[in-house]
Amino acid sequence: MSNVKRVAVTGAAGQIGYSLLPLIANGSIFGPGQKVALQLLEVTPVLGALNGVRMELEDCAFPLLTEIVCSDDPKVAFKNADLCLLVGSKPRGPGQERKDLLQDNGKIFIGQGRAIAEVAGPDVRVVVVGNPCNTNCLIAMKNAKGVPANRFSAMTRLDQNRAKSQLALKAKKHWSEVKNVIIWGNHSNTQYPDWHHATIGGQPAAKVIADDPWLQGAFMKTVQERGKAIIEARGKSSALSAAQAACDHARSLYTVNTKDDSVALCVISDGSYGTPEGIISGFPCTTDGKGNWQIVPGLAMNDFSKQKAAITWKELTDEREMVKDLLG
Ligand code: NAD
Ligand code: LMR
Repeated sequence: MSNVKRVAVTGAAGQIGYSLLPLIANGSIFGPGQKVALQLLEVTPVLGALNGVRMELEDCAFPLLTEIVCSDDPKVAFKNADLCLLVGSKPRGPGQERKDLLQDNGKIFIGQGRAIAEVAGPDVRVVVVGNPCNTNCLIAMKNAKGVPANRFSAMTRLDQNRAKSQLALKAKKHWSEVKNVIIWGNHSNTQYPDWHHATIGGQPAAKVIADDPWLQGAFMKTVQERGKAIIEARGKSSALSAAQAACDHARSLYTVNTKDDSVALCVISDGSYGTPEGIISGFPCTTDGKGNWQIVPGLAMNDFSKQKAAITWKELTDEREMVKDLLG
C-alpha cells in the first residue's frame, strides 16, 4: 500500500486549478499527515502554462507534496490515481446557462471516463467540477466501464456553502452555526436550496429567520443565481470559492459526516425521494470516512419542496436525453 495519495487534477492550469492545487498540496483534502502526489492534466497548447504552475508548486516547497506529474495524456494523469478531480472544461460567459456548455464539454468526459477505467487506482474516487457538472459526471461514469457508479460524484458543495452563508448573514450568526442545508437536483439555476431541515445554532433555520417570503424568494434566488452574479461582477466565473468547495467535497468523502450536518453531493439516483433513477442529482448525504456516501433516508418533503425538486429533476432528465449518444 502506497503511503502517498495520488490526486489527478484536470484543467490544472485554469483558474480553479490555480486556487485548488495549493489547497491540496497543503493537506486540505487528506489532512496534515498525508503525503500527496499531484498528477496534472491539460490540453496540449496549455502545457507551457502548466509548466509554469509546476515551477510555482516546486517553489512553494510544500512539506506534503512528493511529486508533480504534468501531461496532456489522460492515461498518464490518471495512472494509479486515488482521487480524480475533473475540473478541465470551458466555463460559461455572461448570458450563458451552464447547460449551454454541454455540447463543448460533454465529450471531454467520454475519453476521461475511459482512461480512468483503464489506469486509475483500484479504489479511485472521481469528483466532477466542470460544468454542467451533473451531466458531465454521468457521461464520465457511463464511460468508465467496470468502475462502480458510487465512486462518482459531482459538485453542489459550492451551492451548499453559499446557502449556509446566506442563511448566516440573514440570521446575523456565523456560518459555522448553520447545518444541514440541502441542495436538491442540478448545479444550475433550477437547483433547490432547501432550508426546511437546516438549523442555525441548533434551532430550526425557519424559526430563527422567521421570514418565509425571504426564504422562498430572495434566499433561493441568490443561491441559484450566485454563479451568474459572480461572472457579472468579476468577468470570470467563480474560482477561489469553487476550489475551496472542491476540497470541501473531496475531504467530506474521506471524513465521517452524519445526518445532523449532511454534505451536499451529486450522486447516482436510486429513486430516493421520487428522484428519477440513474441521473446524477444533488442529495443530502452522509459519509463513512472511507470514500463512501449514503443518501440520507426518510426526510419529510412538503408540497413546496416536492414541486421545486421536480423542476430540477426534470432538467436533469432533459440533459440526460441531450447526451444520450455520449453515454457509452
Ligand atoms: P478555465 O478556463 O480557467 O480553466 C479550464 C482549464 O481546463 C483550461 O486551462 C483548459 O485548457 C483546460 N481544459 C479544457 N479541456 C480540457 C481537457 N479535455 N483536458 C484537460 N484540461 C482541459 O476554467 P475554470 O474557471 O477553471 O472552470 C473550469 C470548469 O469548472 C468550468 O466548466 C466551470 O464552469 C466549472 N465550475 C464548476 C463549479 C461547480 O460548482 N460545479 C464552480 C465553478 C466552476
Ligand atoms: C458557479 O456556480 O459559480 C459555477 O458553476 C460557475 C458558473 O458558471 O456559474
